[in-house]
Amino acid sequence: MTNFLITGGAGNIGSALATQLAKTESYNITIVDNLSTGHVNKIPKAANVSFINADVNIYNDIHPVFERFDFDYVFHFAAVVGVKRTLEHPIGVLEDIEGIKNVLALSKDSNVKRVFFSSSSEVYGEPFEIPQNENTTPLNSRLPYAIVKNVGEAFFRSYEKEYGLPYTIFRFFNTYGPHQSLDFVVPKFLKAALAGKPIEIHGDGLQTRSFCYIDDTIATCIETLHEDYKNSVLNVGNDREMTVLELAKEIIQVTGSQSEIIHLPALTEGDMRRRCPDVTKMKAILHRELTTLHEGLLQMVDFYKSQSKS
Ligand SMILES: NC(=O)c1ccc[n+]([C@@H]2O[C@H](COP(=O)([O-])OP(=O)(O)OC[C@H]3O[C@@H](n4cnc5c(N)ncnc54)[C@H](O)[C@@H]3O)[C@@H](O)[C@H]2O)c1
Repeated sequence: MTNFLITGGAGNIGSALATQLAKTESYNITIVDNLSTGHVNKIPKAANVSFINADVNIYNDIHPVFERFDFDYVFHFAAVVGVKRTLEHPIGVLEDIEGIKNVLALSKDSNVKRVFFSSSSEVYGEPFEIPQNENTTPLNSRLPYAIVKNVGEAFFRSYEKEYGLPYTIFRFFNTYGPHQSLDFVVPKFLKAALAGKPIEIHGDGLQTRSFCYIDDTIATCIETLHEDYKNSVLNVGNDREMTVLELAKEIIQVTGSQSEIIHLPALTEGDMRRRCPDVTKMKAILHRELTTLHEGLLQMVDFYKSQSKS
């Protein structure tokens, strides 16, 4: 058996990863989550998946989990997320550094083969260049969430340097999927469009983003279990850069909605002007084209419709 720990496994990306890993019978998956933004409904109901309600930032919560299982691979995905939430709780965000230290120290002490870290495109801050490259684009992390991810990356690299604990760092760019909470842009716009309600955009909507469908994110994470991707940093995203206004229009078109687009005052901080990853490394790992926004949106619509029937 191969034992996996996924912290934050009741969340959007963690639960999708657990669902995919659980398809391999010889994998045992333990999920640790404090259910702050996650939900038990997202956790796959499979014989080889177990759930522990615990807070990774509290050593006495997470230590017994490492004592009980002999993990081969640890995916540390738990974090305070979301622009609004992280701006409103800057101290809580900084406390996530404790979770990173706990996971690394306990992984080192229990001979984990590799630790995987969910960093973020936010480490690039307001970008110096587009597309944003893992090695050449300077990091401009200023907000607490971005600083924690940047410090987190430094901890992962340092544990490898000092103790030889292998790592893989994912810099996730906007990932969307059926289980994403409704305070993220794609689900929020889609739900509004499907309900015929106005789609609300902060500012002029000319800020750019790129949107990666969850299947591409998870396929990439799983491929990196291969030894070749040890001790590397990887952008995980989609390279179609588009404005938020274009996103709203595409969602209206895909859903055939009559929703109008309305503009709210711009956010005073945290809304980067542009964002688009260099995904050369990711594409080489996947050996296939990425899911288009159109295809991803159709899958989300199907999921929401099937949910409303059940
Ligand atoms: N979704 C994206 O577009 C995106 C982009 C960049 C980075 N990330 C990173 O990917 C990871 C997963 O994000 P997501 O989109 O799935 O968000 P999510 O909110 O769906 O998942 C995060 C999970 O972590 C749990 N959690 C939070 N703090 C915890 C703690 N102290 N102890 C235990 N559990 C805790 C939450 O309950 C939730 O289930 C996060 O680290 C996030 O920073 C996500």
